[in-house]
Amino acid sequence: MAQESHIDPNNLPQHIAVIMDGNGRWAKNHNKVRVFGHQNGVQAVREISEGAAELQIPYLTLFAFSKENWNRPAFEVNTLMKLFVKTMDKELSTLNKNNIRLNAIGDVTSLPKETYKALLKGMQATSHNDGMVLTLALNYSSRWEILSAIKKYGTMVKNGEIKPELIDEEFFNGLLETSDMPDPDLLIRTSGECRVSNYLLWQLSYSELYFTDVLWPDFNKSHLHEAIRTYQNRERRFGLTGEQLINS
Ligand code: IPE
Ligand code: IPE
Ligand code: MG
Repeated sequence: MAQESHIDPNNLPQHIAVIMDGNGRWAKNHNKVRVFGHQNGVQAVREISEGAAELQIPYLTLFAFSKENWNRPAFEVNTLMKLFVKTMDKELSTLNKNNIRLNAIGDVTSLPKETYKALLKGMQATSHNDGMVLTLALNYSSRWEILSAIKKYGTMVKNGEIKPELIDEEFFNGLLETSDMPDPDLLIRTSGECRVSNYLLWQLSYSELYFTDVLWPDFNKSHLHEAIRTYQNRERRFGLTGEQLINS
C-alpha cells in the first residue's frame, strides 16, 4: 500500500483512541434519519480496526456510547443498543481473522441485558487472540471512571489495605478501567468537533490530539494513515525543551 509506506514503522502510536463522531450529520447530509448514520458507521469501525491491526498498533480504543448519550431520543438509543448486538455477532469472524481481542471499558454491567451479553460473548470468543486489543468504550464517561476509582480507593483505605500517603500515579492508573493498557499516544476525533466530551480525561494528559472534519461513516484507512503521519510529524516534549530532545 503506497500510503502505508510513508508511515514510519518505528514511530507508531502504541495506543490510538478515537471519538467516532458525525453519524447524525452524515445521515442528514443523505436526507436520512440519524440511525442510518449509525448503521453506516459500522463499516468505518471495521475498516479502522482492520487498518490499525494491519499496522500492528497494539491498542485501539473506540468511544461507542457515552453516559450522556442516554439523554438522546429513546428510538435512537434503542436502535444503537440493538445495533451493538447485531454488529458484535456479525463481526466476530472478522475480529478473529485479524487476530483482534475485543475488550470493553465503561459501566457495561448497566447496559441492556442483550447488549451486555453480546459484549461478553464477543470478548470471550476473541480472548485467545494475541494481536491488537480493540476496546469499546460503552456506557463510558471519564468522570464516572475517575469517581469509581476514588470509591475503590476509599474502600481500600477504610479497610486498612493502603495508606493514603502511598497513592501515586501508578497506583491510581491501576484503579482505572484502562489499568491494563498504556495511555493513548494519539486521539482522533472526527466530524470537526474540537472537544474531548468526557473521554479518557486522565489518560489523555499527554496524547497528541488530531481533529478532522471527515464524518465518521466516511472515515477510512487512508484517513487513519493521514492521522498517523501527522502524529509522526509532531514533537512530543513531555515538558522538556525542543533543544533537550535534540541532544538526548
Ligand atoms: C457519533 O455520532 C455516534 C454516537 C455518539 C453514538 P453522532 O450521533 O454524535 O453524530 P452527530 O454528532 O449528531 O452528527
Ligand atoms: C461523543 O460524541 C460520544 C461518542 C462518540 C460515543 P457526542 O456526539 O455524544 O459528543 P458531544 O455531546 O457532541 O460532545
Ligand atoms: Mg456527535
